[in-house]
Amino acid sequence: MSVLQQKLAWRYATKKMNPAKVVPQEKVDRILEAARLAPTSSGLQPYEIIVVTNPQVREQIKPKAWNQGQITDCSHLLVFAAWDNYTPERINMMFDLTNAQRGGTNEGWENYRQLLLSTYPPRDAQTNFEHAARQAYIGLGAALIAAAFEEVDSTPMEGFDPKAIDEILKLRERGLRSVVILPLGYREEAQDWLVNLKKVRRPREQFITEVK
Ligand SMILES: Cc1cc2nc3c(=O)[nH]c(=O)nc-3n(C[C@H](O)[C@H](O)[C@H](O)COP(=O)(O)O)c2cc1C
Repeated sequence: MSVLQQKLAWRYATKKMNPAKVVPQEKVDRILEAARLAPTSSGLQPYEIIVVTNPQVREQIKPKAWNQGQITDCSHLLVFAAWDNYTPERINMMFDLTNAQRGGTNEGWENYRQLLLSTYPPRDAQTNFEHAARQAYIGLGAALIAAAFEEVDSTPMEGFDPKAIDEILKLRERGLRSVVILPLGYREEAQDWLVNLKKVRRPREQFITEVK
């Protein structure tokens, strides 16, 4: 088993975190960097991550997240928030950034910009948000794996009221909508009902189809 595989087997959706243990900032930074480096469709990175450490804000969020204890027992709560829509400004921002960072442009790239500009903004906002949210999940996956690699516990969570979280964090004002959240912390083994249960996955042959 590779080191990465061992760590992926070690990770689990932590149910009880130790509120006294704080994830070191350098580990948090590497987890966030994994998400920042994650691929997205057309490279648009149509989401942001809000890192909530403020205890009062996390207390506010907890009842809007099924009272899940990890919200306040974690040390860092990552909120993945997707663009509420694709606008010409947002698309141009990423194409311009690419041109600036690569120093110049080319016709194929500019044609591709025009293709996206003519395809995405005319679509309804909900379709665009859902497309952006799918990209946020790729970042979530990268962050989950990076957290395991850093031996930091985490719990991916959809069990929350996105509208309420958007209000608490004032996300709609920024053109963002919360999609999924990820508390980071350390397991409290003695109080966690899941920690010693077998990880359940369908066998490989029921999951992978090889077309040779
Ligand atoms: C998108 C997503 C949302 C989830 N939402 C919650 C949640 O709100 N609360 C929770 O305790 N676990 C949540 N889970 C954890 C899953 O139940 C868990 O990952 C799954 O049962 C597999 O177990 P493992 O992660 O321990 O290997 C979520 C997982 C994912 C990927």
